[in-house]
Amino acid sequence: MSENGHCALVTGASRGIGAAIATGLAADGVPVGVNYRRDREGADHVVADIEEAGGRALAVQADVAQAGAEKELFSELEEHFGPVLVLVNNAGTRADALAPQIDDEAWEHVIETNLSAAFRTTRRALRAMLRARFGRVVNVASIVGQRANPGQANYAASKAGLVALTKTVAAEVARRSVTVNAVAPGFVETELTEGVSRELVEAVPARRAGTPEEVAACVRFLASEQASYVTGALLTVDGGLTA
Ligand SMILES: NC(=O)c1ccc[n+]([C@@H]2O[C@H](COP(=O)([O-])OP(=O)(O)OC[C@H]3O[C@@H](n4cnc5c(N)ncnc54)[C@H](OP(=O)(O)O)[C@@H]3O)[C@@H](O)[C@H]2O)c1
Repeated sequence: MSENGHCALVTGASRGIGAAIATGLAADGVPVGVNYRRDREGADHVVADIEEAGGRALAVQADVAQAGAEKELFSELEEHFGPVLVLVNNAGTRADALAPQIDDEAWEHVIETNLSAAFRTTRRALRAMLRARFGRVVNVASIVGQRANPGQANYAASKAGLVALTKTVAAEVARRSVTVNAVAPGFVETELTEGVSRELVEAVPARRAGTPEEVAACVRFLASEQASYVTGALLTVDGGLTA
């Protein structure tokens, strides 16, 4: 990103895929808001790594699953770096169980974190993006939103919803040169997938799990100026698992 006077926001960037995305975007020259909910230490670490490499970053606390939390998050970043013209909705969680065992709390927690939060941050970010006639929204979905994965009805519904949100908003804002895309990672080793059976890796044609950096590389492309004619797309990053 070569433009000055704006920044990127990566939600859930204190570790895992979000941390790799934040680090990658900063390396591309854009100041980055490193959002975290609880893991302050992780977020500080990401910021320190970015600064050490010559980039600019700010750790910003907000539980994006709470309606309204995006207001302060955006104000803080706007004050510090200018408008958020690159938004990566990465914060995500899971609360797995077979459908009969998913209670209302587990359903709402996953939908609020993975889907509603992305809607609210996108709504807030679009103001400045539409004004600037430039913007990049990248949503981190999952292959589980496209294909059944028993035990994840709440997670799958949230990610499928995120893809539907991506496509519709993309069509709404395309004429203002704002793009909205999604990536769908397969199996990536992070804290989120701790305890997930390694058997899954056997089913991956690439015969290995993906890395956060491999997902970040795709997000970096979609967030770049070069990706100006890519919008409403879903880029699968799964080592061939759903091919
Ligand atoms: N790993 C995979 O195989 C995989 C596959 C497909 C899709 N994905 C998606 O990729 C994204 C990142 O996953 P990951 O594997 O990197 O997970 P992770 O290692 O568990 O990291 C999740 C991040 O989200 C943050 N977060 C969670 N709830 C939040 C909230 N309410 N507000 C703000 N931040 C919040 C966490 O911060 P705190 O600790 O501070 O709460 C953490 O930084 C998620 O959307 C996930 O669904 C992952």
